[in-house]
Amino acid sequence: MSSSIAWDERFAGGGFQFGEAPNRYLEELRPWLAPGMRALALGDGEGRNGVWLAAQGLAVTSLDWSAVGMAKAAQLAARRGVRIDTVVADAAAWAYPAAGFDLVAWIYLHLPPADRAAAAAGAVRALAPGGLLVLECFTPAQQGRRSGGPKMPELLWSRAIVEELFGGLEVLELLEGTVSLDEGPRHQGPAEVVRALLRKPG
Ligand SMILES: C[S@@+](CC[C@H](N)C(=O)[O-])C[C@H]1O[C@@H](n2cnc3c(N)ncnc32)[C@H](O)[C@@H]1O
Repeated sequence: MSSSIAWDERFAGGGFQFGEAPNRYLEELRPWLAPGMRALALGDGEGRNGVWLAAQGLAVTSLDWSAVGMAKAAQLAARRGVRIDTVVADAAAWAYPAAGFDLVAWIYLHLPPADRAAAAAGAVRALAPGGLLVLECFTPAQQGRRSGGPKMPELLWSRAIVEELFGGLEVLELLEGTVSLDEGPRHQGPAEVVRALLRKPG
């Protein structure tokens, strides 16, 4: 069972579990970003994605339930000379500020179905009109692969789950398939993911 303590223990070792570079899909979406946008990096772990967004000039809130992860995120930001606000909270229970963000980055955040639905509703509420949601998560086809992801099948994502939970958002991209991961020691090699770029109607 996933818990904040288990993630604290994983992050307490040396190095960055998923590397210090941003997720490649998020990085590819740089043309959609503009300085001054307000970004929420959900389940941001050790902060690689939030820190990268801050380096693009975005005002970043980095949220994770692992205090150890958030401390490392703050250190990475300081090392890169950028500012992020870190929040230690459960993504399923956080008080998402209505229309508080122009971008939500949901990268490899895998939650039990009820929590996933609660966090997704919060993320949609938190998007300002015209705001973007970027998601990359593992799909059931990842089971048996050695490139990461949760063991519990109910935590996995699919195109259908994206369509169900984010039905009110406009689909700009929605793809399910094989990618090649090179993200720190935990995400290496061929992987089965869903990728989505969605926009709140404005
Ligand atoms: C696979 S890691 C990905 C971290 C980061 N998004 C990245 O791509 O480097 C999953 C992260 O989700 C966080 N997480 C899992 N369940 C959570 C919850 N209910 N609330 C907040 N964070 C959670 C974990 O602590 C961990 O940092």
